[in-house]
Amino acid sequence: MSIVIRISLLLTRLIFSNCAVSDSNLRVGESWSKRFCNWNKITLPEKTEVDFPNLIVGMATGSSYTFDKLVPFCKSARLAGFRGAIIIGITQLQGFHERKRKKVFDKFNITGVYLNGLKGDEWGQSTCRYHAYLKLILHFASESDSILVSDVRDVFFQAEPFLSVPFGAANFLNTSAQVLLFSEGLNDITIHKATLRNTRVNFRWILNIYGPKKSNLIASNTVLCSGTTIGSKSGMLYYTRAMLYEAYQCLRRNPKKVDGKRGHVCSGGADQGFHNYLFWNNMLNASVALCNAAGPVYTIGVFRGKPVRSLNFERNTDGEVISPSERGVQHPVPVIHQWDRHAELLEHVFQKFDLLSEGVSVRTLSSHLLDGSFSGKVRKKSRGL
Ligand SMILES: *[C@@H]1O[C@H](CO)[C@@H](O)[C@H](O)[C@H]1NC(C)=O
Ligand SMILES: *[C@@H]1O[C@H](CO)[C@@H](O)[C@H](O)[C@H]1NC(C)=O
Ligand SMILES: *[C@@H]1O[C@H](CO)[C@@H](O)[C@H](O)[C@H]1NC(C)=O
Repeated sequence: MSIVIRISLLLTRLIFSNCAVSDSNLRVGESWSKRFCNWNKITLPEKTEVDFPNLIVGMATGSSYTFDKLVPFCKSARLAGFRGAIIIGITQLQGFHERKRKKVFDKFNITGVYLNGLKGDEWGQSTCRYHAYLKLILHFASESDSILVSDVRDVFFQAEPFLSVPFGAANFLNTSAQVLLFSEGLNDITIHKATLRNTRVNFRWILNIYGPKKSNLIASNTVLCSGTTIGSKSGMLYYTRAMLYEAYQCLRRNPKKVDGKRGHVCSGGADQGFHNYLFWNNMLNASVALCNAAGPVYTIGVFRGKPVRSLNFERNTDGEVISPSERGVQHPVPVIHQWDRHAELLEHVFQKFDLLSEGVSVRTLSSHLLDGSFSGKVRKKSRGL
């Protein structure tokens, strides 16, 4: 009997320890993507002294990522009381747009980091932004910092994402929760669940990347969104390297696999496939998935005019997006993701952050509605549902 127990314990331990991505594979992910993404030519600016903890890291590379797409993110982060460093990867723009972006960055104390030459477009979203996150975190974060890596154009802040109560990340991070992943839908409080299987885009991603057998094993799980993730420094280094290793594996398995007009199966929104695959196969140690709007992030996407299955968000009298009433006292959620897919939030964001005074016209803003992609390179429906 005791031998059986010992063997099964041993097996569990073996299986369990086999789950996490090994150090050597993490190194492979990092070094492969350095070449793949052309990081070699990039030099980072010297790190200046910072007076406040924690870090927000975003990517706004590509020539169409102009200041108007950055203002809601930058301004709302500061108005929400975030005082740490905000690091945004950018590419050089021309004339007016370069000057205007610099003004916005100066005003809101944003560190723009030139990543000219970094591989972008469809490979930016699925792969190279994770290499950039990794490098920016290595360079700019202190050991004790927590880090939010975030989509930029479709995110705004309503409260300090790390330190506010009750939803700031500090209330959820601990030694066994070093990475926080955020789910879509409101599966805990409704019968209409958003799963990997019943949200077509997600199922297509994992099916294309991993094949039917591996996809079916995880398909009944909640959808986790790769657009925003928070963790400790060591947690985020592990996470970004693990994502890069998945990207590497994806290309090794599917070197030439293209899904029609959507392009290579490891590009575009494939990162959401990696993200879900890693988590639901227990390959991210010390990580937890939080329910949508039960922590720092509320993802409120719509797809083809319909809210995400199981999502019907509420707002308070000030127009802020609040946590669902089914969970008790309602609070504004710090990070609102995919707000740009809702016409009614457009007006709210425009008014609340006085975008007119920042030189953004409501027309420019609404023309970005439903752009969909993390980057300024407009590709509809490249992420989400
Ligand atoms: C600007 O942000 C940095 C963090 O990047 C902080 O240390 C510094 O105090 C801020 N400066 C101002 C004027 O707010
Ligand atoms: C760590 O935080 C998670 C939620 O983020 C929680 O489920 C878990 O119980 C916490 N663990 C400890 C040891 O406090
Ligand atoms: C993951 O597990 C390894 C081995 O136990 C450990 O060294 C590492 O710190 C863990 N990562 C995190 C983010 O806790």
